[in-house]
Formats: sequence, C-alpha cells, structure tokens
Amino acid sequence: MSKKITIHEIVNRKNKNKIVALTCYTAQFSKTLDKYADILLVGDSLGMIIYGHDDTLSVTERMMIDHGKAVAKNTKNALVVVDLPFNTYESNKEKAYKTAGNILASTGADAVKLEGGIELASTVEFLTKRGIPVMGHVGLMPQRVKMTGGFVLMGHNETQELKILNDARAIANAGVFSIVVEAVKEKLGKAISEELDIPTIGIGAGRYCDGQILVLDDVLGIFDKFTPKFVKKYGCLSKSIENAIKQYSADVRNKKFPSLKNVYK
Ligand code: KIV
Repeated sequence: MSKKITIHEIVNRKNKNKIVALTCYTAQFSKTLDKYADILLVGDSLGMIIYGHDDTLSVTERMMIDHGKAVAKNTKNALVVVDLPFNTYESNKEKAYKTAGNILASTGADAVKLEGGIELASTVEFLTKRGIPVMGHVGLMPQRVKMTGGFVLMGHNETQELKILNDARAIANAGVFSIVVEAVKEKLGKAISEELDIPTIGIGAGRYCDGQILVLDDVLGIFDKFTPKFVKKYGCLSKSIENAIKQYSADVRNKKFPSLKNVYK
C-alpha cells in the first residue's frame, strides 16, 4: 500500500528524482492524478480555469477552501498544497497566519503556497516557525499581473534576473520547503535550482528545475482561451468533449433516448 508523501520526502528529492506536480481543483481528477503526481496544487488559477475570470485576483478564501477540501479528501498519496488567494496574506503576518491556518484546518491539505519574494520573507518565517508548511512562488506571479503587464516572461535583463534570484534566496532562507519558479529563462531556472538547497518546481523555467508543475487543463487540452507556449499538451480533450456533447444533442433532438428495457424490472 502506498503512503502519503511528506514535506521531508519532497525536500529530499533535491538533486535526485524529479518532482511531478500538477494543478487539481476537483474530486474526480484528484483520484486519477494521485496515482502519478507527487504534488497536487489547488492553484488559484481555478479562478480562470473553473470560473472563467480573466485573472486570479477575484479568487476568495471560500473558493480555495471548497476546492481544497474536495482535493484533499480524495488524495491518498500526493502532497496537497493550496494557494493563498490575493489580498488574504500580503499586508501583514498575522493576517497571513489566520488565512493559512484556516485553509489548512478547513481543507485537510498539507501546505499552502504564496507568491512573493524579499518583501514576504518575514511572513514566510512567521508562518513556518508556527508550523505552517509554505511553498514559495517567484518569477511571474499571477497575482501581480496588473503591475507586471500580464502573463509574460520575467527577468528581461541582469538586474531583473538578480532580483528574482534574490527573491528565491530570501524566501528559501525564511523557510519555504520548495519554490515554484514561473516564466523565466532556462539559465535563471538553472541558477536558482543550483544555488538553493530546496527543490525548485518550474513552470516555463526550463529543464534544470527539480520538478515541473503545469496547469492540468493545459496538459489535457481542455482550456482553450490561451495556452502558454512552453506547455506540452498531452491530450486534446476539448475536441473530444465537444464531439460527445454534439452527439448527445443530436440524439436528443432525433428522439434517440436510451432504452429502459433492461433498466427497471
Ligand atoms: O495557481 C496556479 O495554478 C499556480 C501554478 C501555475 C503554479 O500557481
């Protein structure tokens, strides 16, 4: 019987086996993903993927708790991480503790993730010293797209690259157990991964990270609003779904209902 992967085991994967991570928002997918992934992230990308918003800013604590619960309850092996949503942790440490504690206690998840660098290092330290496991997130931070100009590559020159590296250093020193590195050039993903003692989980950050995370709906080819260029699609489910619904619709219109002959005795 397999057993739940721990934070300690994730940290120990550094420079050994690559870490497989995917976003997951619902019970049904948790069961399948749990067989293959080490980490399931209930990402606030659910605001865009499930709720159809343009960005992640309107995601609430309630939404994260509801989806976090559905995933945690149906995951036996993978580590379940839940995003702290925008405007629930950035302004002060106590607020961050309240949100993170509530999310962990209400969902049964194993850790939280927050976006930020040097400016949030003292918050990370506050949480981790009080028993809340935290995953970091640097590079492109989707909760800051209004400042950074959209879902674009981060680190356009050496100064910006150094800032991202310093952000990763600061939150690593503050106690995060791993860091998502999003949308940076491969050499920066490599530099961060080589320098830190904790695993880096890349998303559009190249081959040298200690693991990779992608948005499930991108991998499956369901989310067709836009797909980042770095995503490799492993399926084309939006087409299959459309074909199935088209067929269903045609059957009903043509009065082809399923037979009840052997259904009710
Ligand atoms: O919210 C999310 O899905 C994420 C991943 C893209 C890393 O933060």
